[in-house]
Amino acid sequence: MDSSVTVVILAAGLGTRMKSRKAKVLHRIGGVSLLENVVRTALAVAPPERVIAVVGHQAEHVKREVEHLGIRFALQTEQKGTAHALLCCREQAGELGGLLVVLYGDCPLLTPDTVRRLVDRQSNDAYTAGALITTTLDDPAGYGRIVLDTEGNVEAIVEEKACSPDQRALKLVNTGIYCFRSDLLWKHIAEIRTNNPAGEYYLTDIVQILGEHGYAIGAMHLGDSAEVLGINTRLELAEADKIIRWRKVRELMLGGVTIERPETVTIDATVTIGMDTVVEPFAQLLGNTAIGGDCRIGACSIIRDSKLGDRVEIGPFTIIGTSTLEDGAHAGPFSRLRMENYIEAGAQVGNFVELKKTRLGAGSKAMHLAYLGDSRIGGKVNVGAGTITCNYDGRRKHKTVIGDGAFIGSNSTLVAPVQIGAGSYVGAGSVVTEAVPEDALALGRARQIVKGGWAARRRAETD
Ligand code: UD1
Ligand code: CA
Repeated sequence: MDSSVTVVILAAGLGTRMKSRKAKVLHRIGGVSLLENVVRTALAVAPPERVIAVVGHQAEHVKREVEHLGIRFALQTEQKGTAHALLCCREQAGELGGLLVVLYGDCPLLTPDTVRRLVDRQSNDAYTAGALITTTLDDPAGYGRIVLDTEGNVEAIVEEKACSPDQRALKLVNTGIYCFRSDLLWKHIAEIRTNNPAGEYYLTDIVQILGEHGYAIGAMHLGDSAEVLGINTRLELAEADKIIRWRKVRELMLGGVTIERPETVTIDATVTIGMDTVVEPFAQLLGNTAIGGDCRIGACSIIRDSKLGDRVEIGPFTIIGTSTLEDGAHAGPFSRLRMENYIEAGAQVGNFVELKKTRLGAGSKAMHLAYLGDSRIGGKVNVGAGTITCNYDGRRKHKTVIGDGAFIGSNSTLVAPVQIGAGSYVGAGSVVTEAVPEDALALGRARQIVKGGWAARRRAETD
């Protein structure tokens, strides 16, 4: 028997219970959209050209979210129910044969392992037309209830709205994860009718229809019902987020990362962290962030889409976006590396220093209260407290270039575009508007005047 696998992911609905203008599958858990979570699971059992997402609501936006994964799409322009959604990819999936796995785009915690088990079970079973995953819920509200026959196969799935009081009390539910024999599914799917309270084409009716043709549908029970939580409301979204983030910190800790008070940190599923790095409480590590080994990430820091080498120290309350920090660099506490900064090896950024599109050379230091924007700063430069690059003239941004080994005195104002030569000194409190040559001293401030006895005379006059 052909046991090649095609996966169809139903993701066309709006998800009215989310009370959102955004399509449900675009909401995120663990920093990744619900749909991307499901697509990644699908890719564990089928190649991208055999994974089809059925999109409808905000189709373009939904497609854009996952197209980098190389899967295919089918369009359901009007949402007439889960069976109708599946029918929309009949042309694409119909001739592929083998087994057809159906996943719902709003069921993001499902693991590849569970889907693999379902597929294995079905490929080893010549007698049933398919199998679905069931689970037992204390509160089954909103789920289709499963009625089993005497052999433990699924006799029917009854949607909540169509349940009799007895059926409503059933705690065994449909998770919406199925594996069908393609040939039988496509042969009989058109027999599904809309004779239910919602007037929709329910995919769940296929069970009874196949039954009437003499084919059974098996049930694979899953003990851990958290894995098959379908997200319908923001409350469930938050619960799923908590579960997926716990999976992530668990995986990191088992991989050699120390996470202090792991229940307080927010680490996206996409983040990588090397061995012996310590993450302090309440840190947020987001997006495509990659952190090396032996680093320390201070409490309450927020790092997004950034790359940190080994032995990087981030002090508490530091905010870093789209930046790179090489080995041994330091930032924080209370630094802000806003965007596109490059901090070379061993360079240090201290408290209340803001950087934007700035390269700070190896071993350079900007330890206190500075703004460095659109700057190229060489190695071993000392940037004094209170130094400001005036990179904006009200219309355009300009560059500041500082050569190796320069010393910028405290409270300097560097009016860009401007160049400070290697090895030069800028006197404290200078306003620098012209280039400073290598090894020169620049003083751009009013000369100090001292008036002897002035204060005493003033006191005498006013007393
Ligand atoms: C569905 C199942 C129910 C199961 C539950 C598990 C049906 C009829 N019911 O109910 O038995 O217990 O999931 O979570 O299948 N979709 C489309 N096009 C449509 C309708 C839905 O693509 O026309 C997609 C949705 O975007 C969603 C998925 O199918 O990702 C499930 O739809 P939803 O409306 O959430 O179904 P439930 O009522 O939760
Ligand atoms: Ca649902």
